[in-house]
Amino acid sequence: MSSYTPTNQRPQAMTGDRPTGPLHLGHYVGSLRSRLELQHTHNLTILVADLQALTDNAGNPQKVSHYIPEVVLDYLAVGLDPAKCRFVLQSAVPELAELTVLLLNLVSVAHLERNPTVRSEITQRGFARDIPAGFMCYPVSQAADIIGLGAGVIPVGEDQLPMIEMANVLVDRINRHGNNDQNKISRCSALLSNTTRLPGVLGGAKMSKSGGNAIELGASAAELQKAVQKMYTDPNHLKITDPGRVRGNVVFSYLDAFDPNKEELEELKRHYQKGGLGDGQVKKRLLSIMEKELAPIRDRRMALKNNQAYAIEILKEGTRQARLEAADTLGKIKAALGVFSL
Ligand code: TRP
Repeated sequence: MSSYTPTNQRPQAMTGDRPTGPLHLGHYVGSLRSRLELQHTHNLTILVADLQALTDNAGNPQKVSHYIPEVVLDYLAVGLDPAKCRFVLQSAVPELAELTVLLLNLVSVAHLERNPTVRSEITQRGFARDIPAGFMCYPVSQAADIIGLGAGVIPVGEDQLPMIEMANVLVDRINRHGNNDQNKISRCSALLSNTTRLPGVLGGAKMSKSGGNAIELGASAAELQKAVQKMYTDPNHLKITDPGRVRGNVVFSYLDAFDPNKEELEELKRHYQKGGLGDGQVKKRLLSIMEKELAPIRDRRMALKNNQAYAIEILKEGTRQARLEAADTLGKIKAALGVFSL
């Protein structure tokens, strides 16, 4: 297997996913596409964040285990290349867990409770008063991922900004420690994607598998067609001659994300708004554009269907490298914090 070797010339970037289900088009438009570019310009680490997934799936570890190789196969299907970036399994880098334990002493419970993303996730998941402590603390674990592997650039969506902030608060606290004159730890910064979030097929909320409005990366041609058919448009656009609304119209949001010909798209929008353009016609255009981009991904995903063992090999190789780096950083941080080493 050809494996990737980081070089000093490139900035370190890190992204990751919780392996809790198949990746869908929301992941594709929101982050996988940008990773495809980053793998050429950065030392890109892609973390399969299984420990983080367990913080709200402790009752279903089988699901998380199942999706670890599946998510890697999704990555390979879109074109992320183990010769150009590395795939790391979070739970297989125990140094990150150790770092988490040390970092937990540098934040207060009140600070953890203020994290807006964690707060909204608590509501979404209906934890009420039964919030797993591990879940409450996952931003510190995520900070350990970032700090432990020396990532400076974190490509993320808005919801992850509080995690970046947490990482930087911790970096500053480590650096302020008296024993840390030589090895200052570097801060990280978010690389916000400029793509708007892909809505779910039925409109409104973002695409999510739990909302039942997701299109999986490996969706068949028939599934894709069905999804496009049922996409929410403008409920007041009843006759073809009626003027239609483009805003809040899911079909146009998808065209924004997939149509390579922006000029034609603008013309199409004008026509739709004026009246005289039917939903069926716009959907037909969208389907053919999406089919063109997604068919090769679907074919590769099909071909990889039974290659879980290969996915595990790739994870092992990336993880082996990452462990060496994390051990090195952990040693420096222990020294900085004045922690005993045997
Ligand atoms: N929280 C990220 C997600 O929701 C996953 C993740 C875990 C991550 N550790 C990370 C992302 C470190 C970037 C850097 O999918």
